[in-house]
Amino acid sequence: MSISTHLSPVVLLAGLARAAALPACILSFDGRVPQNATSKTFVSKQSPFNPGYVLGPNVTWDEIIEFPPIPPSRFDRQAGTKPVGLSLSDKSVFLSGSEGRETALRRAELLVNNNDPTVTGHKTWHMSVRTDPARPLNYTHEYQFAFHEAQDFQADFWSIKAGAPLGAPVDTPPRKTFRVEGYKWDVPTKLFFETPLTDDVWHNFGIDLNFDENMISVLYSTNDQPLKVVMPPTFNNISGKAPTTLGETHFGLQKRPLGANIENFLFNGTQEEGIDEALFLGGIFQDDSTNGCITL
Ligand SMILES: *[C@@H]1O[C@H](CO)[C@@H](O)[C@H](O)[C@H]1NC(C)=O
Ligand SMILES: *[C@@H]1O[C@H](CO)[C@@H](O)[C@H](O)[C@H]1NC(C)=O
Ligand SMILES: *[C@@H]1O[C@H](CO)[C@@H](O)[C@H](O)[C@H]1NC(C)=O
Ligand SMILES: *[C@@H]1O[C@H](CO)[C@@H](O)[C@H](O)[C@H]1NC(C)=O
Ligand SMILES: *[C@@H]1O[C@H](CO)[C@@H](O)[C@H](O)[C@H]1NC(C)=O
Repeated sequence: MSISTHLSPVVLLAGLARAAALPACILSFDGRVPQNATSKTFVSKQSPFNPGYVLGPNVTWDEIIEFPPIPPSRFDRQAGTKPVGLSLSDKSVFLSGSEGRETALRRAELLVNNNDPTVTGHKTWHMSVRTDPARPLNYTHEYQFAFHEAQDFQADFWSIKAGAPLGAPVDTPPRKTFRVEGYKWDVPTKLFFETPLTDDVWHNFGIDLNFDENMISVLYSTNDQPLKVVMPPTFNNISGKAPTTLGETHFGLQKRPLGANIENFLFNGTQEEGIDEALFLGGIFQDDSTNGCITL
């Protein structure tokens, strides 16, 4: 795999002309947020994401998008773009066209849909995640921070999660880790990578997807460290070829209930009332990795 890096000035000084000559990867999607974006940008056509989804019916993106006063993540710093925050409240109950009110879920997810190139070929997603210590998550619950959902909404092909797994006994202790998991209906679901979820740190993920070969690999680093492969290419159902399962990719917060399972968690199980939970996101973009190029 030939790997291209976005080099920091320090590396350039040490790494000389050969490194500087490496081209940047071609991007197939750029969701990094320019400095002049406002919360209103996220309800407009200028939003890189779908301006109407995935939120409670009484919530709009301009009400929950914020620009936290924190240092930018690695790939935002390099692009001169800025981090965003989003939050969950009791109003975050999505009204699904196919499922109705998903009463047991709380959702605020930036959505990349109707964009088949992002779910075909060989691509690498990037996303950085950081918690808001003032509005913590509850790691007794399972959260999804990112996932690729099938076109018919009946499967997730991969996901980045945190918290005690959905379906665990209700007295399971909190689990403050990130997990990258595979195809939702595999039994058991494959766990590709797990690492502690620490506060006040940017956690950078790369999800490298070869849709033609059904292969996934995972890259990870913290703060300003270059990404490293933490799981080499591994078989996983990502069904990029079948037109009915191309699907869409979500980035944000999905909080799952306690006391439910994979079959019924939209409507069964419990959530506390009065929640105010937030997450900071940065550097969402996708490399075209057809020629092996991955931004590190
Ligand atoms: C931000 O600035 C760019 C470049 O001038 C412009 O194209 C874009 O429309 C602006 N975006 C917003 C949300 O104002
Ligand atoms: C949205 O507002 C309507 C009208 O006030 C209310 O009936 C409904 O329960 C609200 N939905 C949510 C998820 O808060
Ligand atoms: C976290 O979730 C558990 C299970 O739903 C609940 O018992 C607990 O009160 C929650 N903690 C907070 C701080 O909300
Ligand atoms: C892969 O996922 C698709 C979409 O959910 C499903 O139709 C297909 O049966 C899955 N294949 C395997 C081998 O699990
Ligand atoms: C749990 O889910 C099942 C099927 O999805 C449904 O029939 C049942 O009524 C639900 N139970 C509760 C308590 O919500």
